[in-house]
Amino acid sequence: MRKLLSARRAAGTYARAVTAAAGAVALSAVLAAPAVAAHPGTQTQSATATAGTAAGPAGGPALRLPDGLAETPPMGFNNWNSTHCRAEFDHEMVKGIADIFVERGLKDAGYEYVNLDDCWALPERDADGKLVPDPERFPDGIKAVADYVHAKGLKIGIYTSAGTKTCNPAGFPGALGHEESDAMQFAEWGIDYLKYDNCNNQGVDAIERYTTMRDALKAASATTGRPIVYSICEWGQNEPWEWAADVGHLWRTTGDISDNWSSMLGIMKQNLPLAEYAGPGHWNDPDMLEVGNGGMTDTEYRTHFSMWSIMAAPLLIGSDLRTADEATFEILGNRDVIAVDQDPLGRQGTVVTSEGGRWVVAKEMADGSRAVALFNESDTPQRISTTAGAVGLPAADGYRMRDLWKHEDLNTGGGISATVPGHGTVLYRVWPGDGAGSYPPAAEVGAGSAPYVEAGGTAEVTTTFRNAGITPARDVSVGFEAPAGWQVEAESPTTAQQVPPGGTLATTWQLTAPADAATGRQEFPLTADYAAPSGEEVSLTSAAAAYVVANPPAGTTYASDWEWLEAGNGWGPVERDTSVGEQAAGDGGPLTVGGETYAKGLGVHAVSDIGFYTGGECETFSAQVGLDDETGANGSVAFEVWADGAKVAESGVVTNDEAAQPLPADVADAQTVRLVVTDGGDGVDYDHADWADAQFTC
Ligand code: GLA
Repeated sequence: MRKLLSARRAAGTYARAVTAAAGAVALSAVLAAPAVAAHPGTQTQSATATAGTAAGPAGGPALRLPDGLAETPPMGFNNWNSTHCRAEFDHEMVKGIADIFVERGLKDAGYEYVNLDDCWALPERDADGKLVPDPERFPDGIKAVADYVHAKGLKIGIYTSAGTKTCNPAGFPGALGHEESDAMQFAEWGIDYLKYDNCNNQGVDAIERYTTMRDALKAASATTGRPIVYSICEWGQNEPWEWAADVGHLWRTTGDISDNWSSMLGIMKQNLPLAEYAGPGHWNDPDMLEVGNGGMTDTEYRTHFSMWSIMAAPLLIGSDLRTADEATFEILGNRDVIAVDQDPLGRQGTVVTSEGGRWVVAKEMADGSRAVALFNESDTPQRISTTAGAVGLPAADGYRMRDLWKHEDLNTGGGISATVPGHGTVLYRVWPGDGAGSYPPAAEVGAGSAPYVEAGGTAEVTTTFRNAGITPARDVSVGFEAPAGWQVEAESPTTAQQVPPGGTLATTWQLTAPADAATGRQEFPLTADYAAPSGEEVSLTSAAAAYVVANPPAGTTYASDWEWLEAGNGWGPVERDTSVGEQAAGDGGPLTVGGETYAKGLGVHAVSDIGFYTGGECETFSAQVGLDDETGANGSVAFEVWADGAKVAESGVVTNDEAAQPLPADVADAQTVRLVVTDGGDGVDYDHADWADAQFTC
């Protein structure tokens, strides 16, 4: 149970490591570092001539940032997310990535830095206190790989920690107390970028530690003529957005990302509110990309890449491109999306709305256009909608709207919307006027709310094609696909010769479920084809859905013996009659809360949401709720019971030292009941939660 369950947990682990190591530091070295202004974000001068003053050593260039570096968010590669400390991180990998940057057009697309993370050095410095590259990984040293990377017209980055050791338990040397010597060594090797971590920091003030290295890098740059981008990696612990704009070019805002949806989502949500702090030469860094590492779907990776771009985040590829598939190259190489990230105005996009998991995030661009992300946090397709006015565009007769994943230009009268798949993002760029009418009209196709249907039964769904443009849509035709065993019949026209601007084509469909249909959600691909007045053809895809339901069992029965309609869970799948355990299915232990074990119940992990069909037949729900003892001393969650969209019971925040508490709920007449576990307001961290003895009475 001590795996890294979340980004927050990762950061917490290091914090503990730091405390444990305190006392082992060479304090004299720390104290010998130049004193700095208490708050480098102000104009206060430092106590010495070499730290934080307006002029550099011997009246040279100013030490403070901005210095013209990282005018747009850094782009490149870093090995950490794909290799961690494993042996495949070596000079062959670094050179191989540089080759691929050139061969696959990624260099031309803007990727520039090939960065080494932790584990490149030997644990011990040499007799002169110099860092020694690991001869197994880098047999020719770091300078040789730097030369190789430079020869390709690319740049190279390296890593160390603002502590006595880096984060890896093998104990690689950190730069605390060695700042000037290490910075000089990096510059002499030809290093263009330093990621400076936070582990084993001995409790020394963060501003002081990070400013000392800034000044060391500046001094080394002045001597060698090599500018070095400076990436602060203290995980947002000291709110670097408040003080780091003239210390580093970018600063991590969160704990470590991992290659799964909830980690990526949690980090995105922490980074979005920090928009005002980002700008040219000083960026929020929500950590490196996981695109291509296999733990998310391509839809989720497109969301990851879209949202990092609209947040003007550094785009550091974290997958081993030597084995990456074509979908990965297509995502990472999307120049329309990269242009959003790299826009010279340097704005980080801001949240316009975020109700019901329907996120609208907009970014002002240098040419007056707006990038607009319609991001669907939920598991199921949702229509997400905003307007040109709401994202800050001036009034106009029409707008050109480019779909940055489909690379298609459309016109709109001001509506900006789409039916977005679960976990998906539609990314548009919208310009006022700009000859909008010459592009085909934007249109949408979607379905009304998902009906309930019994196995072998029938239900009705209505689909709507809507012309959102300023020109007519011609030869419109809507298609509804029946999966194996299902029958779908149109009860009204599926085609129209013309749908005018603002007009719709609504079609009613009858669905018949197969007699052996399994309980749960069934999606149906939905398509629409139409033509612009110019004849240009446009195709849309979307989805409709229905829930296959069975009448609930009569009497009092355990929820863990029911089929659910759908279930979302923050860590591994929902488990029946055991705790959630780790990420694999069936790996939990006995449900145990406050030392008491329960034979029946549901084991979940925040954020979790399980939907049951009660069909208006049930009266009550009850459970004994609490954090499972497998969370150790951590975790806090809140349990909620929802009946047809209304919250009918809640536990309040529950922490680990509490016994299970009863959570009865009146669910009379409800068609559906949802069991929800939230993170208790403090992020997802060891949140293993149990619905012990969960029962319905119907
Ligand atoms: C910390 C950083 C990571 C990575 C590792 C290396 O966790 O936040 O990005 O550099 O250290 O040990």
